[in-house]
Amino acid sequence: METVDVYRITDRLDDSTLEALVTRLESRGKHPRFTKMMDDYFDAMKIESAATVLDLGCGTGVAARRIARRTGFAGHITGIDVSPHLTAAAKHLASAEGFESVTEFRTGDSQALNLPDASFDAVVAHTLISHVQHPLAVLREIARVVKPEGVVGIFDGDYASLTFGSDDPLQGKIDDETIINAIVTNPRVMRQIPGLLRDAGFELSVSFSYVVADIGHADFWTSAIQSFRRLLPKAGAMTESVAQSWADTMFKRSEQGVFFGASNYYSFVARRH
Ligand SMILES: C[S@@+](CC[C@H](N)C(=O)[O-])C[C@H]1O[C@@H](n2cnc3c(N)ncnc32)[C@H](O)[C@@H]1O
Repeated sequence: METVDVYRITDRLDDSTLEALVTRLESRGKHPRFTKMMDDYFDAMKIESAATVLDLGCGTGVAARRIARRTGFAGHITGIDVSPHLTAAAKHLASAEGFESVTEFRTGDSQALNLPDASFDAVVAHTLISHVQHPLAVLREIARVVKPEGVVGIFDGDYASLTFGSDDPLQGKIDDETIINAIVTNPRVMRQIPGLLRDAGFELSVSFSYVVADIGHADFWTSAIQSFRRLLPKAGAMTESVAQSWADTMFKRSEQGVFFGASNYYSFVARRH
């Protein structure tokens, strides 16, 4: 069976796998290291001053809710995701937090948006671009739907750098590559974004870079490893027993204080010509 990025096929996954994704995305979305990375580029975008915001690949609406609760925000946020299950979860979670009237969540493909030209002041793609088949198509669609002088924020992991420590470095390299292929489509896309932004008609304003590393004990990476027990077999990357055993080993290393897990993350803020 060929390995496929599970986050690219969320319109075709069964409900229990989608619930594992909801758990993972919500857990990651609450982690202070993740919220800090969001806030850095939202600050640079001055997103609270936007009247209309588009959140592409919104998943459960983590970014949309973060924007909605920013001081001074008085706009409206449209979230788009390819998965009806995830947009339903996003709607429910936004309502539960009192953001029903300022948010709407719809199903759609970011590579071919069913949205009018020049209709948004700001667009974010928060951990979407590494999952789509055609990243430039997404950026061209953003260029179409954002207003002239509108602002865009692209954030994602540089997943080619994702790595977990192992006693056996050669097996560790194999496992890293297996995991990367199961959870992303474009592990090196963040290295292409400056050029793709230019090609789509944007001018890069600022970028942020991070190494998110847990050394000794798992923390940020805990929810990822938990999700891998279910996602790696779904992706066709590992059998259930191999995925369980890999996750058990990671948590054992964490208990022993010898865990290592890391990935680089980047965000790019750009303006439409
Ligand atoms: C890693 S999740 C990120 C979700 C959310 N932005 C967050 O940070 O929690 C990637 C999301 O992109 C969605 N997705 C994948 N391909 C898509 C596409 N072509 N158009 C719209 N959404 C897509 C998936 O369904 C998934 O919710």
